[in-house]
Amino acid sequence: MSGNAYQDDRGNNDRSITSDRSPGEIPYHQGGQAVKVEGDSAFLIGDAMTGGYGKGPDILHECTVAVNPGEIAVIVGPNGAGKSTAMKAVFGMLEVRQGQVRLDGEDITALSPQDRVAKGMGFVPQNNNIFTSMSVEENLEMGAFIRRDDFRDTMAQVYDLFPILKEKRRQAAGELSGGQRQQVAVGRALMTKPKVLMLDEPTAGVSPIVMDELFDRIIEVSRTGIPILMVEQNARQALAIADRGYVLVQGRNAYSGTGKELLADPEVRKSFLGG
Ligand SMILES: Nc1ncnc2c1ncn2[C@@H]1O[C@H](COP(=O)(O)OP(=O)(O)O)[C@@H](O)[C@H]1O
Ligand SMILES: [Mg+2]
Repeated sequence: MSGNAYQDDRGNNDRSITSDRSPGEIPYHQGGQAVKVEGDSAFLIGDAMTGGYGKGPDILHECTVAVNPGEIAVIVGPNGAGKSTAMKAVFGMLEVRQGQVRLDGEDITALSPQDRVAKGMGFVPQNNNIFTSMSVEENLEMGAFIRRDDFRDTMAQVYDLFPILKEKRRQAAGELSGGQRQQVAVGRALMTKPKVLMLDEPTAGVSPIVMDELFDRIIEVSRTGIPILMVEQNARQALAIADRGYVLVQGRNAYSGTGKELLADPEVRKSFLGG
């Protein structure tokens, strides 16, 4: 693979926001057939992960998801496909029985979620991702719990990104609208100054207009150089902003490619995008 096909689409191929490392070559699957492309040096990669919950059966089967600096990588697929499970596996919330998770070349498969946060991973889970009885500002402060330095600058940046949160900073987060709560959740994750941000369905339950706004903010975050790995149920819209896309089916990679490629793939369109 020459160059970085993932970065040609959305106009964010500005080298100044990406690291100077060569773009990672990713194990690449197309049409259900695994094609291992040389090397696997993505910044964050869940590499051929197999695993499940507790002593239960495997939910993931050699599932691979990855993201590089400057990129938005999107995971789509039917309900129950294992999208959230893949995110939890990458974040260390379930046992990966086979395969690896690597961050910046380091094998972190054995680390706890807390240790992964310390390494620079930010994760916004699909559910219960804010403290509803705490104020907006307290939620952001909680996000900074691992920091020993002054985090006021970061909070100012979060308020710049999401001005409504500044306005409502004294209000209980539980009183906010769905879209605003998601902003709190993303803002909380940003408070650790993560090197990579993982979002599980950040636009769940919001109106199309709010969804567009959230996507714009997510693009903005990615332009600051933070790679973003996210799950989305709004597959069409999400793939439109994706440098890299994965369709998961029954815990396996069914299709991968740039967002553009997946949107143009007749099989993907027919089966997952409603034609
Ligand atoms: N905490 C859990 N314990 C046991 N099984 C689970 C748990 N969470 C999800 N599962 C199972 O894992 C499969 C994938 O679920 P999930 O990853 O939530 O799918 P998706 O996010 O793609 O909708 C489903 O069969 C679901 O029942
Ligand atoms: Mg899910």
